[in-house]
Amino acid sequence: MAQRESWATRTGFILAAVGSAVGLGNIWRFPFQVGQEGGAGFVLIYLLFIALIGFPVMLAEFVIGRRTELNPVGAVKQLAAGRFRYAGWLFFTTGFLILSYYSVVAGWTFRYVLLGLQNDYVADVAGAEQQFLSVASGLDAVLFHALFMLAIIVIVGFGIRRGIELAVKVMVPAIIVIMIGMAIYAFTLEGSGEAYAYYLSPDFGYIGSEWQNILPAAAGQAFFTLSLGMGVMITYASYLGEDRNLAEDGLIIVGFDTFIALLAGLVVFPIFFSAGVNPGSPGAGAVFVTLAAAFGEISFGGLIGAIFFFTVAIAALSSAISILEVVVSYLIDEHGMDRLSATTIISVVIFLVGLPTTYDIVVLDLYDKLVNDILLVSGGFLIALFVGWEISDFAIDELEQGIGDLGSWGIAWLWLLRIPAVIGLLVVVLLGISGYYD
Ligand code: PFF
Ligand code: NA
Repeated sequence: MAQRESWATRTGFILAAVGSAVGLGNIWRFPFQVGQEGGAGFVLIYLLFIALIGFPVMLAEFVIGRRTELNPVGAVKQLAAGRFRYAGWLFFTTGFLILSYYSVVAGWTFRYVLLGLQNDYVADVAGAEQQFLSVASGLDAVLFHALFMLAIIVIVGFGIRRGIELAVKVMVPAIIVIMIGMAIYAFTLEGSGEAYAYYLSPDFGYIGSEWQNILPAAAGQAFFTLSLGMGVMITYASYLGEDRNLAEDGLIIVGFDTFIALLAGLVVFPIFFSAGVNPGSPGAGAVFVTLAAAFGEISFGGLIGAIFFFTVAIAALSSAISILEVVVSYLIDEHGMDRLSATTIISVVIFLVGLPTTYDIVVLDLYDKLVNDILLVSGGFLIALFVGWEISDFAIDELEQGIGDLGSWGIAWLWLLRIPAVIGLLVVVLLGISGYYD
C-alpha cells in the first residue's frame, strides 16, 4: 500500500484546520443564531462553551488522530476495546449529512456573488425574500449545489499537500483580510452603535427564561463552528507526521475561529441596522434575505455584497473540503480505494442526499437542526467520555508529545473532559432531542 499522506509544514496543518473551522458557521450561521436566540446572551454562553468544552474536545480529537494516524472510524476501532468501537460510524454519518446541505448553502453564496455583480439585490425585505426563494429552491439551487461539490472534488482529489494544503494557503489569509476590511467598513455605517449594543450587551432576563433553547443552540453552534464532534480534527491530526505542540496549535485555531465569528457579527449587524431591517428574523434564509435587502439599500451595495458573499463562498470551500476528507480518508484507509475514485463516488452520493434540501428550505432547517442540536454534540459527548475516561492513561502522554510535561494543565484538561464536557453535553443532547420534536 502507498505511504499515507502528511502535511508539508506546520503552517499547512494550522491553516487547514483554521480553514475548516472558519466557514458558513461563522458568517452565515452564527449571526442568524444570535438573532434567533436573543442577541448578546447567546454570544456569552457560546463563548463559555467554546472555552470550557470546545477547546478540550478539540485537543481530544487531535490526540486520537495523531496517536493512530487513521481516519475516525478506523482510529476509534483501533483504540476502543468495547462499547466505543462503533462510535466512528456516528462521525461518518454526521459528516455525510452536514456536507449534503452545507454544499447547498454554499451554492447560494455563489449565486449571491453573481447577483451582486449584476447589481440585482432587491431593496425591500419582501422582494428580497422572493429572490431568496428562487435562489434556494429548484433548478438554480441544484445547479449551484452540483458546482460546489465539483469544486471540492477537485481540491480533495489532489490530496493533502497538492490539494487541501495549497488551497488553504491562498484562501485563509484572504478570508481574514477581507473580513477585517468589511468590519471597518461596517463601523462607518450609520446605526452601527445601536447594532453593537444589540450584539454586545446581554439580557440576563432573557437567558433565564429561554435557557432550554439557548443552551443546546449555543453548544451546537460551538461544535459546528470549531468543526468538532465528527472527526475532522481527528482526520487532520492523523496527517501530522511529527510531534508538535497540539495545545498551541489548538489555541491558534480556536482563536481565529472565534475572532472571525465575532467579527462577522460586527459586519452583519451594523449592515442590518443601517438598512433598518430586523436582525431577529429566524431561519436559515434570514441572513441572506436581510443582507441582500440591506445591500440593495446602501450605496455601492452590489459591489460590497459581491465581495462579502465571495468571502463567504471561499470560507465555505475551505470548510467543506475538510468534511469530505473525513469520508474519503475512511474509504482510503479501510477499503484501500484510490483517492480520486473515493472522492468522486462519495461526492455523488452526498450530492443526492442534499437534494431534498433544495426542494424546500424547511427541509434544510431540519437537517441543520438535527446536525447541530443532536449529532455533533452527541459526537462530542462520546469523544469526551472516551478520551476522558477510557484512554486517559495515555491521552495525557500523547498530548505531551511535542510539548513536554504539562503538569496540572494536563490534569485540568482531563477533568474538563471528564465532568463538564460529559455532563454538559449529555444535558445538551437531551434538551436537543426534546426540542427537535417540539
Ligand atoms: N466549522 C465549519 C463552519 O464553521 O462553517 C463547518 C463544519 C466543518 C462543521 C466541518 C463540521 C465539520 F466537521
Ligand atoms: Na466556524
